[in-house]
Amino acid sequence: MFTVDEKYYQEFNGKVGQLFCYVTSKCNTDCVQCLYKPLKSYSLLRDEISKDDMLNLLVAYRKMGALKTTFMGGEPTLHKDLPEFIKKSKELGYKYVRIDTNGLFDESLLSNPDFKMLDEITFSLDDYDPQINDAIRGKNYFEKCVATINHAHELGYKMHLTCCIHNQLTKRDENGKLRLDSMIDFAESLHFETINFHTLFKANIPRDSWTGNIHTSISDYLELISEYFSNNEALSKRKIKIRLPQGFTTKEEFSEEPEYFGYCCAKQRDRALLFPDGTIKVCSLMIGSTFYVAYYDKDGIHYNDTPTNELLSHVDGASTPCTHQYKKNIYSPYLPLCVSFKPKQNELIWLEKLNWENRRITK
Ligand SMILES: C[S@@+](CC[C@H](N)C(=O)[O-])C[C@H]1O[C@@H](n2cnc3c(N)ncnc32)[C@H](O)[C@@H]1O
Ligand code: SF4
Repeated sequence: MFTVDEKYYQEFNGKVGQLFCYVTSKCNTDCVQCLYKPLKSYSLLRDEISKDDMLNLLVAYRKMGALKTTFMGGEPTLHKDLPEFIKKSKELGYKYVRIDTNGLFDESLLSNPDFKMLDEITFSLDDYDPQINDAIRGKNYFEKCVATINHAHELGYKMHLTCCIHNQLTKRDENGKLRLDSMIDFAESLHFETINFHTLFKANIPRDSWTGNIHTSISDYLELISEYFSNNEALSKRKIKIRLPQGFTTKEEFSEEPEYFGYCCAKQRDRALLFPDGTIKVCSLMIGSTFYVAYYDKDGIHYNDTPTNELLSHVDGASTPCTHQYKKNIYSPYLPLCVSFKPKQNELIWLEKLNWENRRITK
């Protein structure tokens, strides 16, 4: 029997809203910024989540209240049981099931009836210029990924795009237009419903050493944020929905609304990141580190009662800037915020389970 131990259950039951299932550590490309690199190399013994383990975990988390599940990795389409995982998730009553993919898969998968049960496919592209994209994500990536995107659109899939904000996107083109703005135009032209941006910073954490050298500087990002967050009108007129991490705030802004700006997925216990090596984490900044909150095996989920429990570094109940990025205060005078803090984002758990925008007082 697969059981959840008392301590994990007490902490996560009713709170955990979504799963990020890193179903495989394998990948068919090698992106410069990929935070998953260490898992690709050290998981020689267990490089994917087995079918039995994945099905047990889906059942256990659904019982604890999870509503949404994402299959990713590595490249999730390299896991032969992916269609079955999608089907099982829907049968169990997950409200929203999605994958994150590089789009390099054999397009016949798009016609698989179980795969078709997906609520959303999220593709990853980092630039509208094929040369810039392929220098980051691999040779011929752009052409193949865009072909898969067009095919998925023809078949009626709901599609989102993830784009990492690298140091070419914060620049302006010869007409003075912000390249990030052109990336949003490009995403609209491909019929994406949402563009979800990820930041790339050197955050003063271990993974800085393997996440390449295409990150943005804090000043470039602050300039971009001030343009976007102060010009909300231009954003709201767009057809495509935009999820943009705020990244930073000032001491004054934070102290006005600590309950809002202090969002932290670890303190909220709002997610579980499940890995092939058996570890379970909460915070994505811990990927590739030895810290984790629990582990699973064929018998169930077990709380990590050792000093490597990632939650020990957080002060529960306190509204603070991002615990990990704040440690050495390299962003002073700005305060770093949770990487998942994306004001007004159109995302199921943020809106329906956490109801986070309700905490906002000033705007
Ligand atoms: C790790 S990938 C796994 C799924 C799939 N292989 C893909 O590329 O979409 C999930 C997403 O994380 C993004 N990503 C990779 N490295 C990152 C980093 N260092 N910081 C932020 N996002 C990153 C990828 O670009 C991708 O959109
Ligand atoms: S496709 Fe995804 S998992 Fe593969 S290297 Fe790129 S970001 Fe990493």
